[in-house]
Amino acid sequence: MRRDHVDPVPAGPRVPADAWAKPVGSAITLDPLTDDAAYRKAFFSTFSSATPENELKWEVVEPRRGDFAFARGDAVIDAARAAGARVRGHPLVWDLQLPGWVGEADPDDLESILRTHVETLARRYRGRVAQWDVVNEPLDEDGSMTENVFFAAMGEGYIDLAFEAARRADPKAERFLNEISAERGDKADALVALVRRLRGRGVPIDGVGIQNHTTARGFPTRAELARLMRRLAPLKVEITEMDVVVERPGQDPAPAWRAAAEACAAAPNCTGLSVWGVTDEFSWKGPEQAATLFDTEGRAKPALDAVRSALRQNR
Ligand code: G3I
Repeated sequence: MRRDHVDPVPAGPRVPADAWAKPVGSAITLDPLTDDAAYRKAFFSTFSSATPENELKWEVVEPRRGDFAFARGDAVIDAARAAGARVRGHPLVWDLQLPGWVGEADPDDLESILRTHVETLARRYRGRVAQWDVVNEPLDEDGSMTENVFFAAMGEGYIDLAFEAARRADPKAERFLNEISAERGDKADALVALVRRLRGRGVPIDGVGIQNHTTARGFPTRAELARLMRRLAPLKVEITEMDVVVERPGQDPAPAWRAAAEACAAAPNCTGLSVWGVTDEFSWKGPEQAATLFDTEGRAKPALDAVRSALRQNR
């Protein structure tokens, strides 16, 4: 048995690709997709797009330099595609979930390390991944560039390099920059400015991911999201990792979902909306935060209807 062998995910029914006006997806992860019935049913009966939640991260895929392990990524991607879902690849370059060896590498080596990593992944999944988060979360909370290991070695040019490598390896997949907590305010301004700089330098970027991890109380409004989508045009925009934390019983998360779904439905450049996790049971936020569209038993919440009424086909 190969060292990184994993069994294929049992086939699911076809996802309802025609149900949605734009792709509506979820992060998916191998173990519950393989053996949790509620999770499988919720995913396959609802979503038309899938983002591997951890399976393509650097520490999983290239734990040692040049030693690539694709079994987990292959399993989730193949299961999603077999069911007809579009796949968002996530992420090619991020300063978290990096294996130790990258941080310890000679800074002069980092350019080649980054290029090899990006090209190897993008080439492997050519034709299978429709859209890559080429660079994830390059901005700090205050909107300055995060001084991560790549930035320290190459400055902002590490972003250019990653996008160019991704294009070389798979010219057809769309290339996104994905950012967290940049839906509004100073960090949204910083994101728009960064994207302008990239475009000014001719970096081959197709779109921007707005994660939209939020709460039932303080969520970005439809108008705030619409404004950011307009400012990012003509690039594409996706809501890539939405979840809504319910801080106290009785709070209603549906308005947050409705705001995002309506903003995306109305914006010509918004190409989809994804939830960060299928059911509350397996959400990175933990079950008690009730952040996804399905409860711990896999029952759809009323918030799913809010997404449906904004983004269903033939409205
Ligand atoms: O794989 C190990 C496992 O072997 C070990 O037994 C276990 C013990 O803690 O940890 C497992 O790794 C965890 C991994 O998720 C897989 O479950 C890590 O500790 C944990 O840190 C990791 O968390 C992920 C997080 O990114 C890491 O930063 C979350 O699942 C994932 O949902 C989250 O996703 C990110 C997006 O990629 C980018 N945007 C923000 C978003 C939320 O943080």
